[in-house]
Amino acid sequence: MDYKSALADILATYTDLPHEELLQTIETPPDPKLGDLAFPCFRLAKSMKKAPAVIAQEIIAKLMEAKPDWINEARATGPYINIFLDKSAFVGDALTAVFKAGSSYGASNLGVGQKIIVEYSSPNIAKYFHVGHFANTVIGKALDNIYRCLGYDVTSINHLGDWGTQFGKLITAYMKWGSKEEIEKTEIEGLVKLYVRFHEEADNDPSLNDEARAWGVKMESGDEEGLALWRWFIALSMREFDRLYKRLNVKFDLTRGESYYTDKMPAVAKSLADMGLMVESDGAQIVDLEAYGMPPCLILRSDGGTLYPTRDIAAALDRYELFKFDKCLYLTGHEQILHFAQWMKVVELMGNPGAAGLVHVSYGMYNFVDGKMSTRKGQIIKADEVINEAVTKTLAIIEEKNPDLPDKETVAEEVGIGALIFNRLYNNRIKDVMFSWERVLNFEGETGPYVQYAHARCCSVLGKAGHASSADFDPAHLADDEAFAVARLLYDYPACIPEAASKNEPYIIARHLMALAQAYNAFYHKHIILVDDQEVRKARLALTTAVQQVLKGGLNLLNIAAPEAM
Ligand code: ARG
Repeated sequence: MDYKSALADILATYTDLPHEELLQTIETPPDPKLGDLAFPCFRLAKSMKKAPAVIAQEIIAKLMEAKPDWINEARATGPYINIFLDKSAFVGDALTAVFKAGSSYGASNLGVGQKIIVEYSSPNIAKYFHVGHFANTVIGKALDNIYRCLGYDVTSINHLGDWGTQFGKLITAYMKWGSKEEIEKTEIEGLVKLYVRFHEEADNDPSLNDEARAWGVKMESGDEEGLALWRWFIALSMREFDRLYKRLNVKFDLTRGESYYTDKMPAVAKSLADMGLMVESDGAQIVDLEAYGMPPCLILRSDGGTLYPTRDIAAALDRYELFKFDKCLYLTGHEQILHFAQWMKVVELMGNPGAAGLVHVSYGMYNFVDGKMSTRKGQIIKADEVINEAVTKTLAIIEEKNPDLPDKETVAEEVGIGALIFNRLYNNRIKDVMFSWERVLNFEGETGPYVQYAHARCCSVLGKAGHASSADFDPAHLADDEAFAVARLLYDYPACIPEAASKNEPYIIARHLMALAQAYNAFYHKHIILVDDQEVRKARLALTTAVQQVLKGGLNLLNIAAPEAM
């Protein structure tokens, strides 16, 4: 039963506000002592021409007279109507809803008929996949899952950084100092070394820069020798990225880098020129954005070469033409906020109908505070080093706490990576993440392992009982405060998903799962589940089964594994 909606139905008969508005006004009081549902009467004051506190009293009198059986009590606290539900009926309803939906609890068809592009990960060819790309990938993947769960038609795109002046430099360096076998073996590391060497040597020999530029121009005009090397660099880099994506359980519908748009760039420049939006400045072509309080958006270099914003404009136009998207999300660190604001403004000025759906989803940086991975030294921190370290540390914890656990390596991988993902998703995404191992891997703190552990605990209880219990239970045995607190969180879980989607904030789900894990642990510590009384036992097992299902579903939605033992 949908309690909020039922309450809104009743209130609609006493007031002149429409059902939808009433529904949105109904709150969950922060303190359960105040009630299970609350309705503030402020909005009614105008039309009813009375003080909200008086209205609350009057409505409560009517409510108690009509008293539906799911309401235990209604009380006025100042301008608030506070409703106390019949606890065991509520718990029964909450569990039944979970069992009925099974693994699709929380899924809906809210987004059916809407097209969403989620562009994420987007590392750069021949450069390290660093922790910033890790953040990008895990936030993007969570949003990808969340939108799919709500029925949206999602296309995920990995927008590789595979075009730009660095490739001319890399080809020059490879021609001079590279070895095929060496690069095949070392992959990105070898390419990065070549790139670094190029810059070192170019300091003394500026002619290298001319050579690199010449390669760039040749590539833009289709030179096969340059392009073949460039394709090889891409293949080598993708080999490394794909190993990481496999570990992170990430797949893209499209892997389509910046280079894909090269032949679409002249048309962009031409439209901009035809519309009179593009002007010359110091030999380059720009769109003046002074009227919008932003520096100009660079479209063409003085040598005619295209730039990062040009490629984003071309990509947005192309995607709109292909997909007619309702929304196109772009994940990047917050240091690119200006870049996105600029080129999105240009798309808007071009009058493209896709402009309204473009959304930049930005996030904060990692700050590594301890150990050898200190960002203070300014070096890049590679994602796979952090992942390997998380898994190694987790394995050590398992060896210490649960040495007989079967398949320790797999569990360590799932828990170590889960810890990193959860840590990244637990806060508002724009906040920088102060990274410390102690915080990430603390099994007692607000961490991924804590939630995974609560899930494993449920599995262990159900295993000991010999079965999961669902349909057959009497909620009268779940009338205690702890069970009610758990049921409340189970009941509210589905609403988190559209909220997370509307704000592009997976933390809303992560926090809810944390609260659920904590509430279940409180229940577990207060009540023995496998008691002799078969009826009580069945009811507590039913609660455990529902928690296990929702924790698993929620973790998976965030792309975190839910091992059955750890
Ligand atoms: N490759 C870029 C980077 O690593 C991110 C690309 C973001 N997407 C875009 N459409 N500009 O910083």
